[in-house]
Amino acid sequence: MTQARAIQLTEFGSPDVMKLVTLDLPAPAAGEVQLRQTAIGFNYIDIYQRSGKYPLPTPTGLGHEAAGVVQAVGDGVTDLKVGDHVVYMNAGLGAYADCRNVPAAKMVKIPAGISDDDAAAVFFKAMTAQYLVKKTHKVATGDVVLVHAAAGGVGLILVRWAKALGAKVIGTAGSAAKCALAVSEGADACIDYTQSDWVAQVQAAMGSQKAHVVYDSVAQHTFMASLDLAAPFGMVVLYGAASGPAPAIEPELLNKKGCLFLTRPSVFPHNADPATFRANAADVFAAMGSGAIKATIGARFSLADLPAAHRAAESRATTGAIVITP
Ligand SMILES: NC(=O)c1ccc[n+]([C@@H]2O[C@H](COP(=O)([O-])OP(=O)(O)OC[C@H]3O[C@@H](n4cnc5c(N)ncnc54)[C@H](OP(=O)(O)O)[C@@H]3O)[C@@H](O)[C@H]2O)c1
Repeated sequence: MTQARAIQLTEFGSPDVMKLVTLDLPAPAAGEVQLRQTAIGFNYIDIYQRSGKYPLPTPTGLGHEAAGVVQAVGDGVTDLKVGDHVVYMNAGLGAYADCRNVPAAKMVKIPAGISDDDAAAVFFKAMTAQYLVKKTHKVATGDVVLVHAAAGGVGLILVRWAKALGAKVIGTAGSAAKCALAVSEGADACIDYTQSDWVAQVQAAMGSQKAHVVYDSVAQHTFMASLDLAAPFGMVVLYGAASGPAPAIEPELLNKKGCLFLTRPSVFPHNADPATFRANAADVFAAMGSGAIKATIGARFSLADLPAAHRAAESRATTGAIVITP
């Protein structure tokens, strides 16, 4: 029996509800792989789940993605072998651990030339950006794209990918330094949305145009402005709620704002089908390989320091991705 160190929660609330415990880990079952995890990706959804905003049964693990090295394979696993470097997402909660059994179907091999750290920093966030720019709205040359929280994990990847697809990209972020980072990663302009006139500044940056698509993961602080900044027949994509839930609106408002389309998508259903998951993952790694997107690691923490990682993310002190090292 292998022993694993893992985060467990028996209640929800502040970051201190995350307790590091030692568990017995059985051999991998049929179809599973046992992974010695080398890098764990933090995602903002971890905060919604830890705090109880997205309710879960207890006790529960936490964390959606990690990279690592295969150290045992269960019966029936033919496409992975001991020593392979892999990354996974959407395999059930429990990525906050140093060792774990994961269904092989949820894993992909990390291509040569990409480190485990970079894979864990990017995978969940880039799989999110992938469906946002390729499916929810197919970003095309000449599009005007507005990305809120543009200096965050998903935000920086969206900026780079939309630029690579030929769009004009306007970002928003919570400080001048964060805006400078988004611009250095390719945004044509980035507006500090803590300033009282930020909406007018975004409109000025877009010139006579409005946004063909608005990627809004901030919600409460930004949502009504997103409706105003979208072009007629434009797409408003509400894909997170970092500042709190968006206000409820009447469907008729979408007509008044210009026959807008509004959607609230999630990465999980977009990757539920195994073949689609693999094709999307291949697209992500191809985009990394071509340099269209890259890992931007803003901070690193240990498993024992996870409460500090959550505090840093919640207080908006981070940029890019946070990687947890077991
Ligand atoms: N639907 C999906 O498929 C899906 C998948 C993955 C992630 N997401 C969502 O995408 C967003 C980005 O995820 P991420 O992991 O890359 O996180 P992140 O962007 O690195 O962190 C969230 C950012 O939200 C901004 N923010 C604005 N108001 C905030 C507030 N009141 N409190 C805290 N943060 C605030 C902060 O940036 P500023 O300081 O610049 O404002 C913060 O850095 C999250 O909302 C997440 O839930 C959705």
